[in-house]
Amino acid sequence: MLDTKSSKPLYEQIKEYILHGIHSGDFKPNERIPSERDLSDQFGVSRLTVNKAIKDLVRDGWLYVQIGKGTFINDEPIDQQLETLTSFSEEMAKRGQETSSTVLRAQIVEASEDIARHLNVPPSVAVVVLKRVRMVGGRPVALETSHVIASRVNDMLSKHDFSHESLYAVLRTEYDITLTHAEQVFEARAASETEARFLELEAGDPVLAITRVTFTANNTPIEYVQSVYRGDKYKFRAVLRRL
Ligand code: GLP
Repeated sequence: MLDTKSSKPLYEQIKEYILHGIHSGDFKPNERIPSERDLSDQFGVSRLTVNKAIKDLVRDGWLYVQIGKGTFINDEPIDQQLETLTSFSEEMAKRGQETSSTVLRAQIVEASEDIARHLNVPPSVAVVVLKRVRMVGGRPVALETSHVIASRVNDMLSKHDFSHESLYAVLRTEYDITLTHAEQVFEARAASETEARFLELEAGDPVLAITRVTFTANNTPIEYVQSVYRGDKYKFRAVLRRL
């Protein structure tokens, strides 16, 4: 039931009710949720209030509307092809989804041995570290830490705001860096407490840990990325041809 004395608006409380239903499994993927009229009767609020809650959840990708049929639970993971080298921003733009990032770290540091090895540079070389929570429709889907050789991207951090800019677009347009290919490794594991906090998961929930080394021409590494993707939000697809 809604708490009419709470300072939390009623439509927010309805959103929480629906989200709780999704997380607890009471509402299953592609199941229809009660109609606006039923929800407004159930909670004793106007249809306008229910409509606002539903609109927000549709915008954030939790629900989808089928005209004439109702509103349904959307739980389709992002289904990504692995044939081409793309960026997070490009992938989501293709799907018409709204993205943003929370920048957790943006600084220049000396490369550790591990990072230096992946980037094929001597240890202690300066690298730009960019750690972001990547969001779709305002919800976190991945945590990404990119390391880029600093001498290739002078002043990048002072000139760009990566909470809404694309790293690959900046590399291409401002630094004339053409990415040619990447090597990616996938590993399934459990989310740590910190990862779970940023990804709105429980510690121990499944995630995909992905590392990527991205190259420019002549097989020169430019970027090394450590990512953690929500296991329930991603599906990767590859075409395998028999030799
Ligand atoms: C993908 C890749 C990352 C890359 C990022 C760049 O998410 N897995 O390795 O760093 O795209 O994204 P953007 O250009 O949107 O900042």
